[in-house]
Order: sequence, then C-alpha cells, then structure tokens
Amino acid sequence: MVEFSLPANSKVKSGKAHAAPAGASRVKKFKIYRYDPDSGDNPRLDTYDVDLDDCAPMVLDALIKIKNETDSTLTFRRSCREGICGSCAMNIDGTNTLACLKPIDEIKGDAAIYPLPHMPVVKDLVPDLNTPYAQLSSIEPWLKSKSPPAPDVERLQSPEEREKLDGLWECVLCFCCSTSCPSYWWNGERYLGPAVLLQAYRWIADSRDDHTGERLDDLEDPFRLYRCHTIMNCTKTCPKGLNPALAIGEIKKLMVQRI
Ligand code: SF4
Ligand code: SF4
Ligand code: FES
Repeated sequence: MVEFSLPANSKVKSGKAHAAPAGASRVKKFKIYRYDPDSGDNPRLDTYDVDLDDCAPMVLDALIKIKNETDSTLTFRRSCREGICGSCAMNIDGTNTLACLKPIDEIKGDAAIYPLPHMPVVKDLVPDLNTPYAQLSSIEPWLKSKSPPAPDVERLQSPEEREKLDGLWECVLCFCCSTSCPSYWWNGERYLGPAVLLQAYRWIADSRDDHTGERLDDLEDPFRLYRCHTIMNCTKTCPKGLNPALAIGEIKKLMVQRI
C-alpha cells in the first residue's frame, strides 16, 4: 500500500511517547509522523520529549538527537545541515521548509513534523521524489548550445546577462514549493510544478543557452505549464526566499511574446 502524507492538521492517531531524561528542565514535545510501509501498520504520531538545554538550535538538530539518543528507527533525509543540499525538506509546524534552517524557538507549543504533503511516503519523513526528479530530467536542466565552445575560454556572459540568473541559481531543489502547490497536488503527474518550472526558466534565461525556442515548445502544454493559477503558495513557502511564481510568469510572458 502506498500511503500519501497528510497535512499537519490531519487526524493521525497518536503512537509511542518517549519521555525526556530525568532532570531535563526545558522540555519541548516533538510530534513526528511515523510510517513504515513494510510493517503493514497505519501511520501514527510518536511523541519525543527533547531537553532544549542539551540540543542545538535547529529542528534538524533535534531530529538527529532523537535518532542518536532515543529512537534509531526514525527516518529522515539530511546531508549538509546548512540549507544547501535541499534534502531535509519536510512539513514543520504546518509549513514546508528545511529542517536545518528552521529554529526550534520559532515554533510555539509542540512541534508537529510531517513529510512533505501529498507525496507517497517511503518511510517516516522521507517522501518519494521519483516523479518530480523525472519531471526535472524532462526539461533537460543543462546548458544546450548549437555552437561548440571555444577551445581555450569559457562561454562568457556580461554582468547584466549573469544577473538574470539571480533568484534562480540558488534553488536547492528541495521541492517545498511544488508540494505546497494545490495544482501540483491534484495534477502532479502532468503539471511540472513550481520547482521544475523555475529550473526550466533558469535555462531559458541563460544567455549562453540557445535552445529557448525548443524549451518553450516543450512547455507549451495545458498541463505542463498552464496548470499554474498564481495561487502563490510556492513563493510563500520557499525556504531560500525565491519566487517560483515569478519565474512561471516570465515563461508565460515569453509564450505570449512569440505568438
Ligand atoms: S503560483 Fe502556480 S506554482 Fe505557485 S503555488 Fe500557485 S499554482 Fe502552484
Ligand atoms: S524554488 Fe525554493 S522551495 Fe522550490 S525547490 Fe527551489 S529552493 Fe526549494
Ligand atoms: S540538510 Fe541540507 S538543506 Fe538541510
């Protein structure tokens, strides 16, 4: 059975409770979504009491502490611990974000932690990202040029041309935006979603790439591009402060200009 992750206000039954060690004075409860497809059990919310006086400041620090000291079966992705790899994306306190960039102190009351919404769950906080990665691959996210590079020099850009990539190259492909987008929830197999469309625009906007026409042809589709209804959840949630909705708008503008 494939279990789809649920929004943080859903009714998942409570599971095991893990108390803080005796003597802990500043205790925070972390209510964490647990699901193991191999077990045949329904998803549950386990509670872990963490002593904040003995924990580093970010939500990812608390998850690592829980895994190291309390429950080694808790499963989540992480790598860089500094907002670069995009792998620790999850739904924290009702918002998709990166656990390593989310200070525990910003969460009022208990910390509710779920996987990214509306994706199949591999285990616990790990969503199955095969579909968005296949979609990313479909837009061919690399520089394509009909002219060979000069033998002894890089392909150059003016400072103005390079500036057009600001707000695009910083994307860490965490998919917080796509999994917050209602259009992507309902049409995720056919609509590319904001993360992939931002990547598509990143190459369309690159002065060194001369496949703009082909790239636009590939997006000219009622589902791949035009399922974006400018709801703006994507831009609101991006933990890197990027604006995928604006990138999608720029693609749509280029579509109109070439008619
Ligand atoms: S602006 Fe478009 S991509 Fe962003 S959340 Fe809305 S529908 Fe989705
Ligand atoms: S645009 Fe932001 S939220 Fe979307 S994948 Fe890139 S970094 Fe993540
Ligand atoms: S661990 Fe790399 S972005 Fe959080």
